[in-house]
Amino acid sequence: MALLEAKNITKQFGGLVAVNDVTLTIEPGSIISVIGPNGAGKTTFFNVLTGIYKPDRGKIIFDGHPLVNLRPDQITARGICRTFQNIRLFHNMTVLENVLVGMHSRIRAPFWSIILRTPGMKHEEREAIERARHLLAFVNLDNKRDELAKNLPYGDQRRLEIARALGANPKMILLDEPTAGMNPHETASATKIIQNLRDDLGVTVVLIEHDMRVVMSISERISVIDYGTKIAEGGPEEIRANPHVIEAYLGKGAAESSKSAAPSHPPDPPAEVGRPDPELRSQ
Ligand SMILES: Nc1ncnc2c1ncn2[C@@H]1O[C@H](COP(=O)(O)OP(=O)(O)OP(=O)(O)O)[C@@H](O)[C@H]1O
Ligand SMILES: [Mg+2]
Repeated sequence: MALLEAKNITKQFGGLVAVNDVTLTIEPGSIISVIGPNGAGKTTFFNVLTGIYKPDRGKIIFDGHPLVNLRPDQITARGICRTFQNIRLFHNMTVLENVLVGMHSRIRAPFWSIILRTPGMKHEEREAIERARHLLAFVNLDNKRDELAKNLPYGDQRRLEIARALGANPKMILLDEPTAGMNPHETASATKIIQNLRDDLGVTVVLIEHDMRVVMSISERISVIDYGTKIAEGGPEEIRANPHVIEAYLGKGAAESSKSAAPSHPPDPPAEVGRPDPELRSQ
């Protein structure tokens, strides 16, 4: 059985059809990517899956149950967690505290008793801290657990977001541009962590990503969205060779010339596709 089935999802903003009749099936234990040019509707699709927006049309079945009409916190409790294109952390809390916040829905003890580390801290609270530290180690941040989130370099903040999302013990994690703004070294390490989410933790991964090296190296399947519509789906090699995809990224001329020049080896989409500073763009 598929872990997630999104069927015929449409989301409009006024006259703009941001997501247009998109159907996507995600098998448990897979790593899939959603790619497409700026403004294609990728983040909006995530926002529909996580309950931030209600779709105008379509249905979503997760783990055998319908999701549409549930609140974001209810969807989190069902097992879908996410990170955000524009990082959302509690800047004045420590790294460890940020992960504890993410775990809050699963801890029965009062949250503040853990944050304040009261002397009478119970067994459950100690376990929560253990688990948070384990998640921090997973994203290579345990040595920075007592730093304030706002003082972390950008790449560390992105990895902290992943640890925070894992705090709720998801079955599926949606990552919205997890390597945006990272240098090549940070990107390589984040790519490994994303791979390990599935390999070591068994979490199903859905990735929105512009860096084609990341996408092509870890995705089993790739869905391409352009102007809200899914224009292609397949394995990395199929997607790399798909003329509609090349056209969406590079323009019609590129698809034509790639056809005549080298039919079996059309150009890779560029590694970074016309990216403005990610922090200047709105969610
Ligand atoms: N809340 C909103 N109100 C109105 N329009 C919106 C809203 N959110 C997104 N849009 C519009 O919907 C379209 C899809 O935006 P979305 O952010 O989903 O694209 P994206 O594929 O994530 O792009 P990027 O790669 O730049 O992050 C864009 O035209 C955007 O301006
Ligand atoms: Mg986006």
